Amino acid sequence: MIRLQGVKRNYGVHEVLKGVDWAVPPRARVGLVGPNGAGKTTLLRLIAGAEEPDGGTVDIARGTSLGYLPQEGARLAEGTVLEALLQPFSEILAMEKEIERLHHEMATATGGRQESLTRRSGDLQHRFEAAGGFELEARAKAILGGLGFGPEDHARPLREFSGGYRMRAALGALLLRRPDYLLLDEPTNHLDLEAVAWLEDFLSDVPSALVVVSHDRTFLNRTVTSIAEMHDGTLTVWAGNYDRYRAEKEKTRALAIKKAASEAHRVAEVERFIERFRYKATKARQVQSRLKMLEKMERTEVMAGEQTWRFSFPPVPRSAQRVALLSAVRKSFGDRQVLKGLDLEIWRGDRIALVGPNGCGKSTLLQVVAGRLPAESGVVELGDKVALHYFAQHVLETLTPGRTVLEEMQAWAPAKAPGQLRSLLGIFQFSGDDVFKRVEVLSGGEKNRLALARLTLDPGNFLLLDEPTNHLDLPTREALEDALAGFAGTLLFVSHDRYFINKVATRVAAFDDGRLLLYEGGYDDYRAAARGSAPVEPVGGGGAARRPRSSPGGEGATARVPVAAPTPPSPGPGAQRGPAVWPSGREQRRADAEARNRRNRELRSFRERITVLESEILPLETRLKELETVMSSAETYKEPGMARKLGEERKSVEVELAHLYDAWDEATSELQRAEAQLFR
Ligand SMILES: Nc1ncnc2c1ncn2[C@@H]1O[C@H](COP(=O)(O)OP(=O)(O)OP(=O)(O)O)[C@@H](O)[C@H]1O
Ligand SMILES: [Mg+2]
Repeated sequence: MIRLQGVKRNYGVHEVLKGVDWAVPPRARVGLVGPNGAGKTTLLRLIAGAEEPDGGTVDIARGTSLGYLPQEGARLAEGTVLEALLQPFSEILAMEKEIERLHHEMATATGGRQESLTRRSGDLQHRFEAAGGFELEARAKAILGGLGFGPEDHARPLREFSGGYRMRAALGALLLRRPDYLLLDEPTNHLDLEAVAWLEDFLSDVPSALVVVSHDRTFLNRTVTSIAEMHDGTLTVWAGNYDRYRAEKEKTRALAIKKAASEAHRVAEVERFIERFRYKATKARQVQSRLKMLEKMERTEVMAGEQTWRFSFPPVPRSAQRVALLSAVRKSFGDRQVLKGLDLEIWRGDRIALVGPNGCGKSTLLQVVAGRLPAESGVVELGDKVALHYFAQHVLETLTPGRTVLEEMQAWAPAKAPGQLRSLLGIFQFSGDDVFKRVEVLSGGEKNRLALARLTLDPGNFLLLDEPTNHLDLPTREALEDALAGFAGTLLFVSHDRYFINKVATRVAAFDDGRLLLYEGGYDDYRAAARGSAPVEPVGGGGAARRPRSSPGGEGATARVPVAAPTPPSPGPGAQRGPAVWPSGREQRRADAEARNRRNRELRSFRERITVLESEILPLETRLKELETVMSSAETYKEPGMARKLGEERKSVEVELAHLYDAWDEATSELQRAEAQLFR
């Protein structure tokens, strides 16, 4: 069990966490969500011990192992990819070496010496097997495969890989290690669609508890069973996956709005009475009592709805009709050919999404078009009056540490007055003192937002975007979708966000062994066409890739998935009348008040019960860890009867814990039910 109580964290005057209470049981699968800058990363860092709280406590049963994947810049051991994964298992690797050495020695030893060597080697083999030594390397390779590393990559040094791939290796190392808790901060940012699908499957089988930060709705729906939402410095836990959380939250909000409205109505009534009779001596008593009533009246707070905001790109000068021509472009890294004679023509107004599996060359192609990487052969031509702007995949690497947000903008637009830049930054939600934050302390999403602000300073008329939605929360993604819809230039982009591609792309260019196949429409159209036997015009044979003439979607195949019309909420069985209608009798009011008090008492007792259970669980978990450590040491087996005694104790601790976990689950769901009822 991980338990946080009243956890606070400030950066200067900025209170990021204002008292977070949170218990994460060992079997939990939690999605940690909230807008950019809400404090999700801060919270994970506090649990992982990378930061200390300014108030409150973080309790973790002693011996509990944590595996933390930071949002950016994970550190890994030097060496090859495979070594990076196996490095935490130095003990197992040492055992393997020792077994080899013993076997070697046994070959020449005789008599008593040989006997003792055989015994030692047998014992060691036993421990090696128990520790999973045999499957370790096979498991490591399977994980690397799922994360997009080919067999030829295993022995390559890690530092040869891009930042994104190093993050994948770091994730792989955690998955192999199987700690008690996996704390993953936006793991899908570094993955493409196939690797995300693999990770979803993999996570559904791991025994570890899971706390994962993500802005990817589909991923959350597939991996978690509860949602912890950071909002305004505090945390609320909701049962169910992401969709269920959205629905419940909407329902709760709608009820709170209704409740607040009727409260306001009542307050207004009382105030009217007071106003009317304030100076009437005969009514003085009633006025006094109503003033008291006013003080005591409940005021329901309504959670703010999803924030929406907008930005737009400035008008851009027109480019030539043909924006870019690529013909027979080749590019290799070492002996690996990435682009194998690739052709592509891009026309003014095109919005092309590049898709394809891991490492197929999407980023390489963008960099070749941007002139940041030279092609080995072939033609890369930009049209007349084309001004391009390249938005890199790892935004962090394009910002300059040490600069403030405002200085970063000034460096890009020295001619612009600071006031102008500040109001532009305001649109991108850097208000007040935020513009004096140094770029290295910004959250992932904030960095990306700054890069977007910078992009609007001078977008050129040909935008090359490499995963522009990484780290962005939903409202910001939507703002970017809208801004791109109003962008008058040409767009070539890489994205793994299916929803984003559907909204933005007019064509999809899919990698197919170093070349491209082009499809009309968005992601869904591309999937439908790729699955069916759509006559897709293959690339090559001299001409540049052109659009397929038709696809099963019919004319131009630009049909989109229909959006379901919102259905009006229907009162379910037993639904009560809206609280706007007030019971008239005094009796009724008293009964209501009593019922409310009773429920409040109930809530309090559930909360107390949960606290008691947690305080029983923590020491038992610590004891279990201790027992496991003692039982894995060879010493234990020397003393007769010891192993059995410890084994029995372990069993009884496990049984007791299982009961406690069940009771905890039950108490928390009852608490949730009771809380939900209070809103009815
Ligand atoms: N060392 C620091 N100094 C000042 N402010 C900081 C520091 N570290 C973080 N912050 C601020 O604290 C807030 C919370 O940051 P955090 O990284 O936890 O957000 P997050 O919820 O993970 O956001 P995202 O979704 O963008 O990753 C942000 O506004 C960030 O700028
Ligand atoms: Mg973060």
